[in-house]
Amino acid sequence: MDHRKAYDKLLEKVRNLNYILSVRGLLVWDQRTYMPRKAVKFRGRQLSALSEYAHSVITSPEFTSLLETAEKGDYPEGSRERMNLFWLRRTYDRTVKVPLKLQLKLVQKATETEVVWREAKDRNDPSLVLPHLKDLVSLKREVAEHLGYESEPYDALLDGYEPGLRASEVEEVFSYLKRETLKLLTKVMEARESGRVPRPVRGHFPIEDQKKFHLFLLRSIGYDLNAGRLDETTHPFAVRIVPGDVRITTRYHSNDLLDGIFSTLHEMGHALYGLGLPEEYFGEPVGNAPSLAIHESQSRFWENVIGRSPEFWEVFYPFLRAFFPSLYDYSLEEFLFAANDIKPSFVRIEADELTYNLHIILRFEIERALINGNMEVEALPEVWNSKFKEMFGITPPTHREGFLQDIHWYSGGFGYFPTYTFGNVIAAQIRHRMEEDIDVRKAVGSGDFGTILDWLRERIHRHGSMYLPKDLVRQATGEPPNPHYLVSYLREKVERFYTPTHRSAI
Ligand code: CO
Repeated sequence: MDHRKAYDKLLEKVRNLNYILSVRGLLVWDQRTYMPRKAVKFRGRQLSALSEYAHSVITSPEFTSLLETAEKGDYPEGSRERMNLFWLRRTYDRTVKVPLKLQLKLVQKATETEVVWREAKDRNDPSLVLPHLKDLVSLKREVAEHLGYESEPYDALLDGYEPGLRASEVEEVFSYLKRETLKLLTKVMEARESGRVPRPVRGHFPIEDQKKFHLFLLRSIGYDLNAGRLDETTHPFAVRIVPGDVRITTRYHSNDLLDGIFSTLHEMGHALYGLGLPEEYFGEPVGNAPSLAIHESQSRFWENVIGRSPEFWEVFYPFLRAFFPSLYDYSLEEFLFAANDIKPSFVRIEADELTYNLHIILRFEIERALINGNMEVEALPEVWNSKFKEMFGITPPTHREGFLQDIHWYSGGFGYFPTYTFGNVIAAQIRHRMEEDIDVRKAVGSGDFGTILDWLRERIHRHGSMYLPKDLVRQATGEPPNPHYLVSYLREKVERFYTPTHRSAI
C-alpha cells in the first residue's frame, strides 16, 4: 500500500476509535453526577470494555502495519500528518512496550491500593497501605524499565503526563521557585505577625443564590452554556465530550463563597480551552491538548491570574453584593485580601497561590526518589513530615493531612504532580506576554473578557497539539517555560497584600 493511502486509512481508523472513546467522557460525567448508585458495577465494566477495545485496535497487526507504512511517507516538518504520526507512534509505543501482563497487574494493584488508601486515610494508619504502595512503586519501576529512558527511570513516567519534559528540567525550575517562594513566604509571615491578616469572609450564603451567581459569572466571561453545563460534585472537574459539549462541575458551601467561585473559574478555564480546540481536528491526535500542564495553565490563568485580580472584583463585587447583601459588611479591599490570603497549610488542595507550589515541589522530590530507587517506601511518613517541617515550618498533626492526603500515588499516578506547578508557571508567562498585546488590567476592569479569550484561542487553543508542549509555550510567549514570570507575579501579589504598612481598606 502506498504511504498516503496507509495514512488516510490509519486516520480513518483512529477517528473512528476516538469517536467511540469520546463516549467515555459522557459515561464518566454521568457517573460522577447523576448516575443511580446501583449502576456502579456495570458502569465500571462499560468503561473497562472501552479501554480493552481501544487496546485491541491499537495493538492489532493491521494498525501496526498501517502505522509503519504511513511513517515512510515524507511529510513536511510541522505538518498535520507529521504531528498525527508523532502522537500515534508515541501512544503505540507506550501501549506495546509494556507487556500486557504487567499492565493488567498494575491496574489490579492500583485499584486495590486505592481502596486500602481510603481506609488508611480514614483511620490515619499508614501501616495498612505502605505494603501495597511498595508493590505499586516496584511495578511502576518495572513499567519505567520497559518504556525506557535516557537518564533516570522517573523520566519515563513523567513523560506520560508531560511529553518531552525531563526530571532534570523540573528540578531546575523547582529549585529556583523553591528558593524564591521561601523568601516571599518569610515576608508574608513577618507581615502576618505584625497583624496583616485578612478577615475571613463568613456568613450564610444560600446555595441557590450561589448557583445563580456562578452562572452569571460564566456567562459574563464567555462560557457558552449552549456548549456546556454547570453541575455540582464534591470534586469539581471539567470534561470535553465532543466539540460543542464541554461540561464543568463545582461545589458550594453555604458558609463560604470563595472556594466555590474559584473552583468554578478553574474548571471554566479548562472548559474554555476544550471549546477552543480545533473542531476540524476532532478525533485526530492533533485535536487534543498536548499536555496536562498546558491544560492546567488555562484553568489557573482564569482562576488565579484573572479571577483573583483586583480589577476582576472591581467589576464583579457589586454584583456579588447584590446577590449576597451581607457582603456590604466587607469592603472590596477586605474581600480581595481574603481571596488572596497566603499562609502555610497542610493540605495541597486548600493551599494559596504561593505555598501551593511548595506542596508540589515536596511531592516531586519524594516521588522522584521513590521511582529512581533512592528512597524506601517505608521511609515515606517520616521523610514527608521532615521535609514538610523544613519547607513550611509546621508538622502535619496526622498522616491524613500528610502523605496520605492525595489519591495520586495510591492510584499509580507518579509523575503527575509537577504538571500542576508547570501550569502555574505557564499561566504567569502567558499573562506577561499577553500584556504586550493587550492592556490586561484595563480589559478585565472593563469586563472585556472577549479580548483575552480571543488571545488565548489564537495563541494556544486553536493549535491543539500541533506542537509539543514546550514548543507551544515557545510559540505563544517567545520562550520555553520560565519560572521567572511566576515569581515576579507572586512577588507583586505579596507586595500588594502583605506590606505591613499597606493602606487601610478602600
Ligand atoms: Co485543573
